[in-house]
Amino acid sequence: MARMAQLIEEAKSNLDAGNDAYKAQNYQAALQSYLISGEKFKLASKNVPNWEKKEKEEMQKSLQGKVDLAIGLADKCMKLLKEKKEGGKQSPPSSPSGGKPSTSSGGDSGGRPSGKKDGGKDGEKDKIAENAESAIVREKPNVKWSEVAGLERAKEALQEAVVLPLRFPQLFTGKRKPWKGILMYGPPGTGKSYIAKAVATECDSTFFAVSSADIMSKWVGESEKQVRSLFTLARQEKPSVIFIDEVDSLCGARGSGDNDSSSRVKTEFLVQMQGAGGDDRGLLVLAATNLPQSLDSAIRRRFEYRIEIPLPDKHARAAMFGIHMGSCSNTLSSRDIDELAQQAEGYSGSDISVLVRDALYAPLRRAQTATHFKMVRDPENPNTRRLQPCDPMDPDPTKIAGRMIDMPDEQAALILPEPISLADFKKAFLSARPSVSKKDLQEIQKFTDEYGVSAQDKESNAERHRRPTGPSKETQTVVMGVTSPLS
Ligand SMILES: Nc1ncnc2c1ncn2[C@@H]1O[C@H](COP(=O)(O)OP(=O)(O)OP(=O)(O)O)[C@@H](O)[C@H]1O
Ligand SMILES: [Mg+2]
Repeated sequence: MARMAQLIEEAKSNLDAGNDAYKAQNYQAALQSYLISGEKFKLASKNVPNWEKKEKEEMQKSLQGKVDLAIGLADKCMKLLKEKKEGGKQSPPSSPSGGKPSTSSGGDSGGRPSGKKDGGKDGEKDKIAENAESAIVREKPNVKWSEVAGLERAKEALQEAVVLPLRFPQLFTGKRKPWKGILMYGPPGTGKSYIAKAVATECDSTFFAVSSADIMSKWVGESEKQVRSLFTLARQEKPSVIFIDEVDSLCGARGSGDNDSSSRVKTEFLVQMQGAGGDDRGLLVLAATNLPQSLDSAIRRRFEYRIEIPLPDKHARAAMFGIHMGSCSNTLSSRDIDELAQQAEGYSGSDISVLVRDALYAPLRRAQTATHFKMVRDPENPNTRRLQPCDPMDPDPTKIAGRMIDMPDEQAALILPEPISLADFKKAFLSARPSVSKKDLQEIQKFTDEYGVSAQDKESNAERHRRPTGPSKETQTVVMGVTSPLS
């Protein structure tokens, strides 16, 4: 993934350099840059990670489109160079993708795969779309709603914003509009990015996952154009969800320490989120941060629904133990799980997933260090016998001495690790610590009190509505925000 992203990034820079050289009528330099760009896009398409077949094919198709584009532009340069040499007087188009195609290019619209007509506005629109397309990775991860433990309110809000308006458009008429901006904030590792993956998996909208690094790309002065093109494309492909992870690094408070380019990005972001004159039904901006207090106040206001993704409660922790163990065989009763959930107080979802992984490895470690094994029935297939580690003193007649590493292949293939036990978890707890500090929690709590709601808040919407609205105007926005658009 990293390799592909890097290659795409480089290919885009080369393409850009080619465009600049083209505009300066330096066709030789443009030709070079376009060729390198085409090569890099080609290489990137060979480096698409092993996503699901459909996604992989889509990505490769999109990259092939970019290869065609770069090669088409290189072709154009070559023809222009030839013309120049032959003393042709044709005046070339001022930009490689805009303007009218030169006669010698045979009407080729710059090799664009879209097949759209070239010229003026269309060309410009095309370029915007190309830019956004290549800056954005669209992927459908495999996380189901049911795999996200707890966070009922966040799931509800996301469904209200993404699923209901699509399935029941008749419910969202007049003033009852779906959420346009949802901000998820909370301590690290509580599932903000994870729940966004569930949205991407479960919703039928076009999902744009953008990291701030995508937008604040190396192209100084281009970043705000990227933001604009991102929104333009998302509007074209409606219904869509734009997910911006770690939004604080993109939209931190303006002013001190800002350079020109990042404040232009923020301004563009503000304009786009405001709607930029278009109908924004069917476009949801979803963002996540663990530093909500550092967000620019104007940006904060544009996320109408701000929801805290807190540390999991006991119930959610118990569910997480189940989710992260998956189908691995274990001897845990529901009582044991309750005990573990109790002991994991203060742990984040991510801490629990690490702890469970550690416990999952315990039977493997035992098998690795075992000096004796015995035959047991395979619980999944009672007709098959498997080898399981046992105590050297075990009286079982099938007991054999030896280490796993020294076994011949056919014997090694029979090894079945023991089921995970409560003791494995107890041991894992000895080396685990919760990663979220009290200070983090206090800051998040302060933000929730002032501006947000908690995903685990049991208070009903109606009760919330009756609550005095507190000192700041923004708190009122939130209290209104809690009311379901269906109510
Ligand atoms: N509610 C949850 N249910 C199930 N698993 C969870 C949950 N929350 C977190 N996890 C586990 O923890 C991992 C890390 O979570 P995630 O990346 O979403 O954290 P985050 O809130 O985005 O943190 P950060 O603020 O540091 O980006 C997930 O991949 C998942 O395995
Ligand atoms: Mg995250």
